[in-house]
Amino acid sequence: MPALPLLGSSSMRILSGIQPSGALHVGNYFGMMGPAIELQEEGEAYYFIADYHSMTSVFDAEVRRKNTQDVALDFLACGLDPAKSVFFKQSDVPEVTELTWLLTTLTPMPMLENCHSYKDKLAKGLKPNHGLFAYPVLMASDILIYDSNVVPVGKDQKQHVEVTRDIAGKFNQTYGETFVIPEPRIRGEVAAVPGTDGQKMSKSYDNTIEIFGDEKPLRKKVMRLVMDSRPPEEPKPDADKNIAIQLLKLFATEKVASETENKLREGGLGYGDLKKTLFEHYWEYFTEARAKRAELEDNLDYVNQVLRESAEKARALASTVLDRAKKNCGLS
Ligand code: ADP
Ligand code: TRP
Repeated sequence: MPALPLLGSSSMRILSGIQPSGALHVGNYFGMMGPAIELQEEGEAYYFIADYHSMTSVFDAEVRRKNTQDVALDFLACGLDPAKSVFFKQSDVPEVTELTWLLTTLTPMPMLENCHSYKDKLAKGLKPNHGLFAYPVLMASDILIYDSNVVPVGKDQKQHVEVTRDIAGKFNQTYGETFVIPEPRIRGEVAAVPGTDGQKMSKSYDNTIEIFGDEKPLRKKVMRLVMDSRPPEEPKPDADKNIAIQLLKLFATEKVASETENKLREGGLGYGDLKKTLFEHYWEYFTEARAKRAELEDNLDYVNQVLRESAEKARALASTVLDRAKKNCGLS
């Protein structure tokens, strides 16, 4: 049985992806992009724009192209460093779809039928296509094809990483040691950032606060956060549950956030003022990234070059792992 290639003990391979299915929001930032950007200091990072995945929900070529470029700009502006991370477009590594087929034949139907994100979409009335159903298998292939050790994601993706572990385990059992079994990495404090309506913030729920955009509409969104009708002077013992407080904790220092929370709890802080404070901290938080994004927008050739060069590196690694899988299961 061929041994798995081991990375040096101090090195780990980190991998994550994000779909180009709409403007990125602060839930994406704190749940996935921020942690992923920090992790690029700790290992060999592979991050990609999941454009094949976006085909399950976006059916307009121009929209996909524009969203893909926006994700590239957003991620680089937020601090993804192409000198440290391999940053590429999923469809530039078509090997991933071939591996998906190998994996799909070892994926039990009930495991996919049980996936929360699939069930949630059905419950919301979405008419599912086969791609949406089979999506976790493509995600497993994304992860396994780079021998990934660690997958930084928000809480909603944890189950998909568990599915990946199960499929990898089954392949290893059936055909001999082939895949590295990955671990999800989820930050407890930002596992699920609330949206403007209090549900999980998501592109699909129309409740997002984007990372980038024009000041005026974004200020309006923040000022429209849903609150109850209690007057400013009334003490609010449930201040920690307030959406604006939860969001403020992400953007402000601990001191500012806890002073604001205390004022709300004791009474005397109106919701309008609370939202203004939130907006200022949010706007300030992304100042540097906003400037960087404007610079990159004037430099699209550079951005495309980063994606192209990274795709070459990613493809070389993916081919090695795909060959190993094909050999082990008798395809070559
Ligand atoms: P969306 O739900 O907006 O479509 P995606 O499913 O594209 O977001 O998620 C991209 C990444 O961002 C995933 O790792 C996901 O777990 C994370 N993420 C999305 N929304 C949130 C949130 N509200 N809180 C924390 N992480 C999130
Ligand atoms: N499914 C993820 C999402 O919707 C995106 C994704 C695709 C991904 N492939 C991945 C995340 C592999 C981590 C690893 O957010």
